[in-house]
Amino acid sequence: MGERPVRPDEPAPSRTALWRAGEVAHARGEFVGQESFMRAGEIRALARRAGIGPGVSVLDLCCGVAGPGRMITAESGCRYLGVDSSAGAVGIARGLAGGLPCRFEQAHVPPLPDDRFDVVLLLETMLAFRDKAPLVEAVAGVLPAGGRFACTVEEGPPLTPVERARMPQADTVWPIGLAELTGLLRAAGLAVTWQEEWTAAHAETATALLRSYEADAAGISAALDSAALADLLRAHRAWADWLGSGRVRKFALVAEKR
Ligand SMILES: C[S@@+](CC[C@H](N)C(=O)[O-])C[C@H]1O[C@@H](n2cnc3c(N)ncnc32)[C@H](O)[C@@H]1O
Repeated sequence: MGERPVRPDEPAPSRTALWRAGEVAHARGEFVGQESFMRAGEIRALARRAGIGPGVSVLDLCCGVAGPGRMITAESGCRYLGVDSSAGAVGIARGLAGGLPCRFEQAHVPPLPDDRFDVVLLLETMLAFRDKAPLVEAVAGVLPAGGRFACTVEEGPPLTPVERARMPQADTVWPIGLAELTGLLRAAGLAVTWQEEWTAAHAETATALLRSYEADAAGISAALDSAALADLLRAHRAWADWLGSGRVRKFALVAEKR
C-alpha cells in the first residue's frame, strides 16, 4: 500500500522530501513514518484492540522502516520484533529506533521467526501476498492460545486485467473478499473478535498523499528516480479512485487464536 523502493543509501527519512510530504498530508501528530494510509490514531486503536501493552511480545510482519512499530514500542512498552524483506528498510528502521528496545530482522515471510509471540501485526501489506493461506497458517503457528493477529486488509474482488495494467507493481496487489479471508483465518484456528471499516478515512489519506506528492514532485525527485516517482503517483491515483469509489474497501481486524 503506497509502497515505494527504499534505496540502501537513503538518508534518514526525516530528511527526505517524501517524509515531509507525509507530514503535510496528515493532520498534526498523525504521521509517524508509516508507509501506508493508516493514521497514527488508527495504528494506536488497532494496537489497543490487539491488547498490546507492557511486556507483550509483538511480531510486526512487513514492518518497512517501522514508523508504526517504533511508536507502538515507545508508547506501550511491548517487546518488539520487526521483519521486512528489504535490507534498506530494515537498515533505516534500526537507525531510527535509537534507544528503543526494538529488534529487526531482514527476512522474506513466510516462514516466520522460530519463536512464540502474543501478537502478530500485519499493517497495510496483506495485499502483497497472492496466496494468503500459507501466511495465515504461519501466523497461527507462532501464536499461543489467546494470542492475537491484528491486520488491515484490502477487501474486494481480484483486479481485472485493465486494473492490473493501471497499477505499478501489480504483482504485489491481491485484494481478497472478507468472507474468504475470515474463512482462511477460521481454518487456521483464528476467530475474528473485532473488525471495523476504514475505507473512507483511507480514501482521504490516499488523496491527501497524492496531492502532497504532486505538490513537491521536484523535491521528491531528488530521492526517487523519475520512473519511481511516476509509479508512486500512478499508484496513489489508483488507490484514491478505488478507495473513494468503494472498488476496494479497507478493514482493520483482530483475530484470536483458539
Ligand atoms: C506498504 S509497506 C508497509 C510497511 C509498514 N507495515 C507500515 O505500515 O508502515 C510494505 C512492506 O512490506 C514489505 N514486504 C512485502 N512483502 C514481504 C514479504 N513477503 N516478506 C517480508 N516483507 C515483505 C516491503 O518490503 C515493504 O517494506
